[in-house]
Amino acid sequence: MNIGCLPRRRLAEGGLSVERWTFSNFMRRAIYPGSFDPVTNGHLDVIERARKLFDEVIVAVAHNVEKQPLFTLEERLELLRATVGEQDHVRIGQFDGLLVEFAGLQKANAVIRGLRAVSDFEFEFQMALMNRSLNANVETIFLMPKEEYTYLSSRLVKEIARLGGDVSSFVPPCAAKALAEKFRR
Ligand code: PNS
Repeated sequence: MNIGCLPRRRLAEGGLSVERWTFSNFMRRAIYPGSFDPVTNGHLDVIERARKLFDEVIVAVAHNVEKQPLFTLEERLELLRATVGEQDHVRIGQFDGLLVEFAGLQKANAVIRGLRAVSDFEFEFQMALMNRSLNANVETIFLMPKEEYTYLSSRLVKEIARLGGDVSSFVPPCAAKALAEKFRR
Protein backbone atom coordinates (compact mmCIF):
# COMPACT_ATOMS: atom_id res chain seq x y z
CA MET A 1 0.00 0.00 0.00
CA ASN A 2 1.36 3.38 -0.93
CA ILE A 3 -0.82 6.16 0.43
CA GLY A 4 1.50 8.72 -1.14
CA CYS A 5 -0.03 7.79 -4.49
CA LEU A 6 -3.63 8.44 -3.48
CA PRO A 7 -5.22 11.47 -5.11
CA ARG A 8 -6.25 14.08 -2.50
CA ARG A 9 -9.88 13.96 -3.56
CA ARG A 10 -10.02 10.22 -2.90
CA LEU A 11 -8.41 10.58 0.53
CA ALA A 12 -10.95 13.23 1.45
CA GLU A 13 -13.82 10.89 0.62
CA GLY A 14 -13.21 9.16 3.92
CA GLY A 15 -15.42 6.18 3.31
CA LEU A 16 -13.10 4.72 0.68
CA SER A 17 -11.15 1.68 1.73
CA VAL A 18 -7.50 2.66 1.44
CA GLU A 19 -6.57 -1.01 1.03
CA ARG A 20 -8.20 -1.06 -2.40
CA TRP A 21 -5.98 1.70 -3.71
CA THR A 22 -2.56 0.27 -4.22
CA PHE A 23 0.25 1.80 -6.25
CA SER A 24 -0.57 -0.67 -9.01
CA ASN A 25 -3.87 1.14 -9.69
CA PHE A 26 -2.03 4.35 -10.48
CA MET A 27 0.92 3.05 -12.39
CA ARG A 28 1.38 4.27 -15.91
CA ARG A 29 1.89 0.91 -17.50
CA ALA A 30 2.59 0.34 -21.18
CA ILE A 31 2.77 -2.74 -23.33
CA TYR A 32 5.46 -2.90 -25.99
CA PRO A 33 4.26 -5.74 -28.21
CA GLY A 34 6.03 -7.40 -31.09
CA SER A 35 7.36 -10.55 -32.64
CA PHE A 36 10.94 -9.83 -31.50
CA ASP A 37 12.25 -12.42 -33.95
CA PRO A 38 14.90 -11.62 -32.79
CA VAL A 39 15.25 -8.53 -30.59
CA THR A 40 17.30 -5.80 -32.33
CA ASN A 41 19.13 -2.70 -31.12
CA GLY A 42 16.18 -0.71 -32.48
CA HIS A 43 13.82 -2.54 -30.10
CA LEU A 44 16.22 -1.88 -27.20
CA ASP A 45 16.29 1.81 -28.07
CA VAL A 46 12.47 1.99 -28.02
CA ILE A 47 12.34 0.14 -24.67
CA GLU A 48 14.79 2.64 -23.19
CA ARG A 49 12.68 5.57 -24.39
CA ALA A 50 9.44 4.00 -23.11
CA ARG A 51 11.04 3.33 -19.72
CA LYS A 52 11.50 7.07 -19.22
CA LEU A 53 7.81 7.74 -19.85
CA PHE A 54 6.11 4.93 -17.93
CA ASP A 55 6.30 3.41 -14.45
CA GLU A 56 6.35 -0.02 -16.00
CA VAL A 57 6.88 -1.32 -19.52
CA ILE A 58 5.82 -4.86 -20.39
CA VAL A 59 7.70 -6.11 -23.40
CA ALA A 60 5.18 -8.59 -24.78
CA VAL A 61 6.18 -11.26 -27.25
CA ALA A 62 3.35 -12.29 -29.56
CA HIS A 63 2.98 -16.00 -30.25
CA ASN A 64 2.27 -14.91 -33.85
CA VAL A 65 2.23 -18.24 -35.63
CA GLU A 66 1.09 -16.53 -38.83
CA LYS A 67 4.53 -14.97 -39.32
CA GLN A 68 6.33 -18.32 -39.00
CA PRO A 69 9.10 -16.95 -36.79
CA LEU A 70 12.68 -18.17 -37.07
CA PHE A 71 13.01 -18.38 -33.28
CA THR A 72 10.57 -20.26 -31.09
CA LEU A 73 8.56 -18.30 -28.56
CA GLU A 74 10.82 -19.52 -25.74
CA GLU A 75 13.97 -18.53 -27.67
CA ARG A 76 12.59 -15.04 -28.37
CA LEU A 77 11.68 -14.63 -24.70
CA GLU A 78 15.10 -15.88 -23.61
CA LEU A 79 16.93 -13.39 -25.85
CA LEU A 80 14.86 -10.57 -24.38
CA ARG A 81 15.44 -11.78 -20.83
CA ALA A 82 19.17 -11.91 -21.52
CA THR A 83 19.23 -8.31 -22.79
CA VAL A 84 16.56 -6.35 -20.90
CA GLY A 85 15.50 -8.78 -18.18
CA GLU A 86 17.51 -7.08 -15.46
CA GLN A 87 16.30 -3.52 -16.05
CA ASP A 88 14.15 -1.79 -13.47
CA HIS A 89 10.54 -1.14 -14.47
CA VAL A 90 10.69 -3.53 -17.42
CA ARG A 91 8.94 -6.90 -17.49
CA ILE A 92 9.07 -9.51 -20.21
CA GLY A 93 5.80 -11.22 -21.07
CA GLN A 94 4.06 -13.14 -23.82
CA PHE A 95 0.58 -13.10 -25.22
CA ASP A 96 -1.67 -15.02 -27.52
CA GLY A 97 -4.86 -13.53 -28.92
CA LEU A 98 -5.85 -9.89 -29.04
CA LEU A 99 -3.33 -7.31 -27.93
CA VAL A 100 -5.99 -5.04 -26.39
CA GLU A 101 -7.27 -7.93 -24.27
CA PHE A 102 -3.78 -8.57 -22.97
CA ALA A 103 -3.39 -4.84 -22.28
CA GLY A 104 -6.65 -4.86 -20.32
CA LEU A 105 -5.62 -7.88 -18.27
CA GLN A 106 -2.31 -6.20 -17.43
CA LYS A 107 -4.06 -2.91 -16.52
CA ALA A 108 -2.01 -1.12 -19.15
CA ASN A 109 -3.36 2.05 -20.71
CA ALA A 110 -0.86 2.39 -23.50
CA VAL A 111 0.63 0.39 -26.33
CA ILE A 112 4.06 1.42 -27.56
CA ARG A 113 5.07 0.97 -31.17
CA GLY A 114 8.31 2.03 -32.79
CA LEU A 115 7.90 4.15 -35.91
CA ARG A 116 10.93 4.04 -38.15
CA ALA A 117 9.88 5.50 -41.47
CA VAL A 118 6.87 6.67 -43.45
CA SER A 119 6.60 3.13 -44.81
CA ASP A 120 5.70 1.89 -41.33
CA PHE A 121 3.01 4.47 -40.93
CA GLU A 122 0.10 3.09 -42.91
CA PHE A 123 0.05 -0.32 -41.22
CA GLU A 124 0.74 1.13 -37.78
CA PHE A 125 -2.00 3.75 -38.18
CA GLN A 126 -4.49 1.07 -39.23
CA MET A 127 -3.53 -1.15 -36.29
CA ALA A 128 -3.69 1.72 -33.79
CA LEU A 129 -7.16 2.77 -34.91
CA MET A 130 -8.41 -0.82 -34.98
CA ASN A 131 -7.08 -1.38 -31.47
CA ARG A 132 -8.72 1.84 -30.32
CA SER A 133 -12.06 0.75 -31.74
CA LEU A 134 -11.69 -2.53 -29.83
CA ASN A 135 -10.73 -0.82 -26.58
CA ALA A 136 -10.87 2.97 -26.35
CA ASN A 137 -9.03 2.93 -23.01
CA VAL A 138 -5.80 1.79 -24.60
CA GLU A 139 -3.88 4.55 -26.34
CA THR A 140 -1.19 3.77 -28.93
CA ILE A 141 1.97 5.83 -28.59
CA PHE A 142 4.59 5.89 -31.33
CA LEU A 143 8.22 6.34 -30.43
CA MET A 144 10.96 7.04 -32.94
CA PRO A 145 14.18 5.13 -32.46
CA LYS A 146 17.59 6.72 -32.95
CA GLU A 147 18.17 7.72 -36.60
CA GLU A 148 20.79 5.02 -37.04
CA TYR A 149 18.16 2.37 -36.35
CA THR A 150 15.50 3.67 -38.73
CA TYR A 151 16.47 1.17 -41.42
CA LEU A 152 16.85 -1.73 -39.02
CA SER A 153 14.37 -4.59 -38.90
CA SER A 154 14.39 -8.16 -37.62
CA ARG A 155 13.52 -9.32 -41.13
CA LEU A 156 16.61 -7.71 -42.70
CA VAL A 157 18.85 -8.86 -39.87
CA LYS A 158 17.71 -12.46 -40.43
CA GLU A 159 18.39 -12.16 -44.15
CA ILE A 160 21.89 -10.78 -43.59
CA ALA A 161 22.67 -13.50 -41.06
CA ARG A 162 21.31 -16.19 -43.37
CA LEU A 163 23.64 -14.98 -46.12
CA GLY A 164 26.65 -14.98 -43.79
CA GLY A 165 26.85 -11.19 -43.16
CA ASP A 166 27.93 -9.52 -39.93
CA VAL A 167 24.95 -8.46 -37.80
CA SER A 168 26.89 -7.57 -34.65
CA SER A 169 26.13 -3.85 -34.91
CA PHE A 170 22.39 -4.44 -35.35
CA VAL A 171 21.51 -6.85 -32.55
CA PRO A 172 22.71 -7.55 -29.00
CA PRO A 173 25.56 -10.11 -28.77
CA CYS A 174 23.32 -12.98 -27.59
CA ALA A 175 21.03 -12.49 -30.62
CA ALA A 176 24.02 -12.39 -33.00
CA LYS A 177 25.21 -15.67 -31.49
CA ALA A 178 21.75 -17.24 -31.72
CA LEU A 179 21.46 -16.18 -35.38
CA ALA A 180 24.88 -17.64 -36.16
CA GLU A 181 23.79 -20.92 -34.59
CA LYS A 182 20.52 -20.98 -36.55
CA PHE A 183 22.32 -20.45 -39.86
CA ARG A 184 25.42 -22.50 -39.16
CA ARG A 185 26.32 -24.28 -42.34
O1 PNS B 1 6.75 -6.99 -34.36
P1 PNS B 1 5.49 -7.08 -35.17
O2 PNS B 1 5.42 -8.39 -35.90
O3 PNS B 1 5.31 -5.90 -36.08
O4 PNS B 1 4.27 -7.05 -34.12
C1 PNS B 1 2.94 -7.13 -34.56
C2 PNS B 1 2.00 -7.38 -33.36
C3 PNS B 1 2.39 -8.65 -32.66
C4 PNS B 1 2.08 -6.22 -32.40
C5 PNS B 1 0.55 -7.48 -33.93
O5 PNS B 1 0.51 -8.46 -34.93
C6 PNS B 1 -0.48 -7.81 -32.84
O6 PNS B 1 -0.84 -6.95 -32.08
N1 PNS B 1 -0.89 -9.08 -32.79
C7 PNS B 1 -1.84 -9.55 -31.79
C8 PNS B 1 -3.20 -9.88 -32.41
C9 PNS B 1 -4.07 -8.65 -32.48
O7 PNS B 1 -4.39 -8.01 -31.50
N2 PNS B 1 -4.46 -8.31 -33.72
C10 PNS B 1 -5.28 -7.15 -34.01
C11 PNS B 1 -4.40 -5.98 -34.36
S1 PNS B 1 -5.36 -4.63 -34.92
